[in-house]
Amino acid sequence: MIRKAVLPVAGWGTRFLPATKAMPKEMFPIIDKPVIQFIVEELLEAGVENVIFVTGRHKRPIEHHFDINTDLEKHLEEAGKEDVLENIKEISHMINPIYLRQKEQLGLGHAVLTAEPAVGNEPFLVSLGDIILERGREVIEKMIEAHYRFGKSVIALHEVEEKEVSKYGIAKVKRIEEDIYIVEDLVEKPSPEEAPSNLAIVGRYVFTPRIFDKLRETKPGKGGEIQLTDAMKLLLEEEVIYAYKVEGKVYDTGNPVDYIKTIVEFALKREDIREEILSYLQEILSKQTQLIDRP
Ligand code: G1P
Repeated sequence: MIRKAVLPVAGWGTRFLPATKAMPKEMFPIIDKPVIQFIVEELLEAGVENVIFVTGRHKRPIEHHFDINTDLEKHLEEAGKEDVLENIKEISHMINPIYLRQKEQLGLGHAVLTAEPAVGNEPFLVSLGDIILERGREVIEKMIEAHYRFGKSVIALHEVEEKEVSKYGIAKVKRIEEDIYIVEDLVEKPSPEEAPSNLAIVGRYVFTPRIFDKLRETKPGKGGEIQLTDAMKLLLEEEVIYAYKVEGKVYDTGNPVDYIKTIVEFALKREDIREEILSYLQEILSKQTQLIDRP
């Protein structure tokens, strides 16, 4: 069984500055739950309990979130807020995390390499903190299953619009089964002209430990950073990499526009606020339409 998951959370979150100057983007809320909690819950649902965070100096709130806060618990108890208290306690006991510090932010690939002492010589998962998957549990389970079937690394892919390809790592693939592909090539954030397909890497990876050797060999790539995609390209030269095409919706929270879309969609799924948000959206939409229609 794959036991360990690495969650790289050390990035600067430059797309959200100045909000991320002192606040990790992984702690941004989707209504009232931080993005990182969705990622952790997905892992737990799929049976992976060992969570290794690769953090940086300004990421302490993540540690606090998964830690016990006795003062808050006492306050909620005294205030008689039983429901919230239960939820807060649950989060404190959700995982027994390991925190590793990436001393310099040299890129996603470098962050994964930082986790090597905690992972050791065994296959492991990498989950990126900015993508929430509607059917996350199923995706992780299918990827783990494919890893055991083929004994190799497996990445999750999802179709994106052509104009979106430059936001993602893009894969050239060959289909071998209903939802399983063989990766033939990878490019990190290509222009639409360079992109070999519209299949984007969606931040879920199962790796053989051989990736660590490849990460050590990887030179700075796009943006001058040590890219995980480039290390996978090196791995491709000696091992087959498989891909699983995800079912269900993919919510990207890694840039302001997609983050807002994600919040709206999640708000519409919540029974307690759905009606209010829906009528608000209808109201602003009709106002906007009136403005456009005005001669
Ligand atoms: C990273 C990866 C990219 C992947 C993306 C998914 O990019 O480098 O290959 O497609 O995550 O979110 P980032 O969003 O960190 O710039």
